[in-house]
Amino acid sequence: MVKRVCVVGSGYVGLVTGSCLADLGNNVICVDNDKKKIEMLNKFKMPIYEPGLEDVVKRNVEAGRLFFTTDLKDSVKKSEVIFIAVGTPPKANGEADLSCIEDVSKQIALNMDEYRLIVDKSTVPVQTGQRVKETITRNLKKDIEFDVASNPEFLKEGSAINDFTRPDRIVIGVETERAAVILKEIYNPFNSPIITTDIQSAELIKHAANSFLATKVSFVNALSVICELTGADVDKVTEGMGMDKRIGSSFLNAGVGFGGFCFPKDLAAFIKISEKLGYDFKLLKAVEEINKKQKDRFIKKIEDALWNIKDKTIAVLGLSFKPNTDDIRFAPSIDIIKALLRDGAGIRAYDPYAMDKMSQVLPEVKYCQSSYEAADGADALVIVTEWSEFKELDFVKIKGLLNDAILIDGRNMYDPDSMRRLGFKYVCIGKKS
Ligand code: UGA
Repeated sequence: MVKRVCVVGSGYVGLVTGSCLADLGNNVICVDNDKKKIEMLNKFKMPIYEPGLEDVVKRNVEAGRLFFTTDLKDSVKKSEVIFIAVGTPPKANGEADLSCIEDVSKQIALNMDEYRLIVDKSTVPVQTGQRVKETITRNLKKDIEFDVASNPEFLKEGSAINDFTRPDRIVIGVETERAAVILKEIYNPFNSPIITTDIQSAELIKHAANSFLATKVSFVNALSVICELTGADVDKVTEGMGMDKRIGSSFLNAGVGFGGFCFPKDLAAFIKISEKLGYDFKLLKAVEEINKKQKDRFIKKIEDALWNIKDKTIAVLGLSFKPNTDDIRFAPSIDIIKALLRDGAGIRAYDPYAMDKMSQVLPEVKYCQSSYEAADGADALVIVTEWSEFKELDFVKIKGLLNDAILIDGRNMYDPDSMRRLGFKYVCIGKKS
């Protein structure tokens, strides 16, 4: 059944949600208070790089099912279901800043004149749904019925369209049967399992899932240290672990530590939420600590391989926090490059998509048009993000371009024996160097 939907916030989550719901045939209005962003979207210019997004947006705008506007008031009046997908950035103490959620809830209340279902999609602390409900009740101008629901998003940057349309599960947290029916009507066409819970449980599922995945990554990174100290191979160990169906093979890649706008932020927020509730979630504090140390250890590996960093030129491949995105928020590359610059190195960097954004954060880096240009005249090559094009590099050519055949691989992309046979001093994660 076609629904009139409004999605407030046109960031990753909002844009993907809005365009994919329009693709199902719903009438969708995406609202954002950033005028420039809305102007760009109306010209089919995506504010983020996300494979496939532009096509879905274009197709649905042209079909007259998807609209972009800054007018929240009008959008609330026209829509039966309102998704909140605004940012919940971290405050200095790690807590999520929920002021945008409060503001939008208030605006919805002030502008609705008949029943509305308000669905929170942003990642929020448990019990935020209750706050949204209270805010709306307080600001309603007359007695209008409404429901609040939680519908957390599990999309990954780089595969967001696929994650939205073919999810492992859809979580809906509701208080009324009416809200459950509407959300099921929206999501049934995806043919994915739908789990219906109370609002608090749905909110917690999101934080629990992200924290658990981050725990997996930190576990493996800690394991990589033990592997290095004992001569074991972390990739073999995780292969053996992952074949146990209870463990599973995904999220077991050792590397330079996790980054991005979700894991570090959600982990810090979950630690704070637990603290406020009176529980010291020490396990998650250790996950954070291991993650920080993993970056420091990688910087130390570069220093060890080069002996002295001062006045050396280092080629860095991969800047985004993971492949297939131009997102550099909390990217490990930032801390790694900053440390090397501080030690007096010159950096030549290449990334297929993230260089524009990175040049605003680290203008002192020399940005190159290819991996080969970055390697030209450098004293070492460092892999920070595992873009698939780095797998195909011609390492005979790279060796000819480098001053010194030193390869420090933060993502275990290559076979150590092959690299050593080619004459590289090859350093990676969780294996004998
Ligand atoms: C993450 C979750 O995977 C999504 O389910 C969730 O919806 C999203 O956060 C969110 O809360 O919005 P995302 O941040 O896009 O998605 O990235 P991931 O693919 O989960 O990777 C996170 C970090 O972990 C990256 O820095 C990645 O390099 C690192 N990672 C991941 C590893 O170091 N090793 C692994 O084996 C897997």
